[in-house]
Amino acid sequence: GTTRHYNFDIRLHNVTRLCHSKRILTVNGKFPGPLIIAREGDRVLVKVVNHVSNNVSIHWHGIRQLFSGWADGPAYITQCPVQSGQSYVYNFTIIGQRGTLFWHAHITWLRATLYGPLIILPKKNMSYPFAKPFKEVPIIFGEWWNTDTEAVINQALQTGAGPNVSDAYTINGFPGPLYNCSANRTFKLKVEPGKTYMLRIINAALNDDLFFSIANHTFTVVEADAVYVKPFETDILLITPGQTTNVLLKTKLNPSNTTFLMAARPYFTGQGTFDNSTVAGILEYEKISAKNYSKISIRGLQIPTLPPINGTSFVANFSSKFRSLATAQFPANVPQSIDKHFFFTVGLGSSSCPKNQTCQGPNGTKFEASVNNISFTLPTISLLQAHFFGKSNGVYTTDFPSFPITPFNYTGTPPNNTKVANGTKVVVLPFNTTVELVLQDTSILGAESHPLHLHGFNFFIVGQGFGNFNPQKDPLNYNLVDPVERNTLGVPSGGWVAIRFRTDNPGVWFMHCHFEVHLSWGLKMAWVVLDGKLPNQKLPPPPSDLPKC
Ligand code: C2O
Repeated sequence: GTTRHYNFDIRLHNVTRLCHSKRILTVNGKFPGPLIIAREGDRVLVKVVNHVSNNVSIHWHGIRQLFSGWADGPAYITQCPVQSGQSYVYNFTIIGQRGTLFWHAHITWLRATLYGPLIILPKKNMSYPFAKPFKEVPIIFGEWWNTDTEAVINQALQTGAGPNVSDAYTINGFPGPLYNCSANRTFKLKVEPGKTYMLRIINAALNDDLFFSIANHTFTVVEADAVYVKPFETDILLITPGQTTNVLLKTKLNPSNTTFLMAARPYFTGQGTFDNSTVAGILEYEKISAKNYSKISIRGLQIPTLPPINGTSFVANFSSKFRSLATAQFPANVPQSIDKHFFFTVGLGSSSCPKNQTCQGPNGTKFEASVNNISFTLPTISLLQAHFFGKSNGVYTTDFPSFPITPFNYTGTPPNNTKVANGTKVVVLPFNTTVELVLQDTSILGAESHPLHLHGFNFFIVGQGFGNFNPQKDPLNYNLVDPVERNTLGVPSGGWVAIRFRTDNPGVWFMHCHFEVHLSWGLKMAWVVLDGKLPNQKLPPPPSDLPKC
């Protein structure tokens, strides 16, 4: 492979959406941020220079970071943040991955504006397992707040309430014509008739799973989280924050109109306020004889059909369609025998309101979110530094429970006590351990789907279902042949999902809900994977410019 150099200058930039202007953090003045493109096997060097007053840190979401954990990016997990006036060179090699991923800030809520696509092309002379598309287009969903997002989350954390919902969803930075004062802020995809386009779809929204569809058109899904899948057709996609997927869009030879609406709207099963607005973009045919068509205004265009906001049955059916290629060339390398079993509950909870404060969470408490009832507290130096230099004392403890401390009926009547424990607890695992992890949604404050994301690994989704996981019966139905391989999954609302992975990558690896609000509330934990015995099974020492806290 070759080496690719990028410069990421973090600067303030004035941006206007929905008739509101604000100064936002950008990379190189761009919103959304610049594209990173590389081939499988390439080394990527990104020099991040912080020209703003905030601490920043950038994560290469979905990049496995094999033996390069110092470049992963989550603040206080693998590094201290890059402080104002400082810089850090992220240095990693892309091994065994090809497809669409993205990058985003990984500290407080800065990823609201600091994000962009990360595209991995196949190695030179390697083709796709499908016909080469005519063109490839990134479609990146985001969320826009008219006010400052750091203030939004800080206020929520101080009052214990849910944060203000966003004012719009965006496609490639644009809210589109269905929002007020936004008609000229519309993403337009120009296509020719009878051609195949590959849409590289990324959900960089902070807090919403999204349904997406293009009126009168069908997608063929070919890849998820930078792994090829068995192609399947669908008119509608569901994509959670943190997920990426490539789809083929075959344009019509004789379209019924010159323009079609594309639209995305949230899937939401939780409690509280949510934004049920619709972001739209336009698919516009070129090189067709326009005089054969009568002019339709954007307002006259039909909005594509999308499932209802709580369309859990669509979501369960859709997610079950993803299967790995599982051929000799791309085998499903799912662990068949398991060294370590884990069962983690994920869900919301609460904590007592601090004295002299009035809290706006459930029954006057503060909102929290937890894994096995532990709401994770970020340390003040990075876990990876503490681990690598043997200074974990006072930074973290290794007693993260493998199973819930008090099991209960997770999907039935909620327990009286919704309180969580706080702590910086990790699970330590030897190199090359095979892990099975069952993630169970709790309905403590209402059942809710959680987009769980694992750093440092891809996992195989071997089973999923509704209700309480049954350890006797459910494993009998696992798919150990062609399960999909991903880095982010939706834990079913009121259900469970089982994943398997192998700890072939030493380091400290964050696992968390990719809803930014749940991340802020503590739905996160970390795995510490030890070095192996062989020289090539060890994490190298950190680069000399690794930021200090
Ligand atoms: Cu895309 Cu830890 O996140």
